[in-house]
Amino acid sequence: METRDVLSQRRSVHYFDSSKEISEEQIRELFDLVKLAPSGYNLQPWEFILVRDPENKKKLRKCAFNQHHVEESSTSVIVCGNMDPTKYAEKNFNDWVKHGYFSEIDVEKTMAQLNKLKEDENFCKMWTMRSTCLAAMQLMIAAEDMGIGTCPMEGFNPEMTAKEFGIPKDVLPIMIIAMGYESKAALPRNYRRPFEEIVHFEKF
Ligand SMILES: Cc1cc2nc3c(=O)[nH]c(=O)nc-3n(C[C@H](O)[C@H](O)[C@H](O)COP(=O)(O)O)c2cc1C
Repeated sequence: METRDVLSQRRSVHYFDSSKEISEEQIRELFDLVKLAPSGYNLQPWEFILVRDPENKKKLRKCAFNQHHVEESSTSVIVCGNMDPTKYAEKNFNDWVKHGYFSEIDVEKTMAQLNKLKEDENFCKMWTMRSTCLAAMQLMIAAEDMGIGTCPMEGFNPEMTAKEFGIPKDVLPIMIIAMGYESKAALPRNYRRPFEEIVHFEKF
């Protein structure tokens, strides 16, 4: 599909056909595209918990204020962001050194910087959200291209979700994305703020 068609066709799906499953093969194809999302320093802080088991979907529905599409979708993804910027840094920086993007001194300096930033919880929350939300959008676009519908959801209790699904303290549950096949077409595209209102040339 053309990118502009994918972008204009994507809608938030509220009614899923629960008899239609997304296969494990499709899941792999999808996440092989998701992992290509950009991230600050290529640190890839995202973690995805795929909830497919009916009992677990029931649990997640409870965490999501009883939103029915969490349970009716084939797979609900808990999109999480790792708040430790050093977590996957070594592997990536070693690769950068191998490719000549970074010197050993660059690695040392950047690691020191990241270790300092790690102390600031507010910074870490914002840091992980920036990159993880781009990966979440990449997921929704890739899914649409594969004919799979999605619904991003912030209507859930992060503490309850973390407890139910074993999410550690330094990992932030950011959103749920319900995925599957639409059973009822969405209502017409809703209101969008106009170009003149959202685009600010040179200054706000
Ligand atoms: C951050 C975020 C949180 C959202 N939370 C929910 C939610 O909890 N439940 C839901 O049904 N839809 C949720 N939505 C979907 C929005 O209602 C939807 O994106 C918006 O109405 C625009 O419609 P469209 O996605 O079909 O273009 C959320 C969307 C975003 C981006």
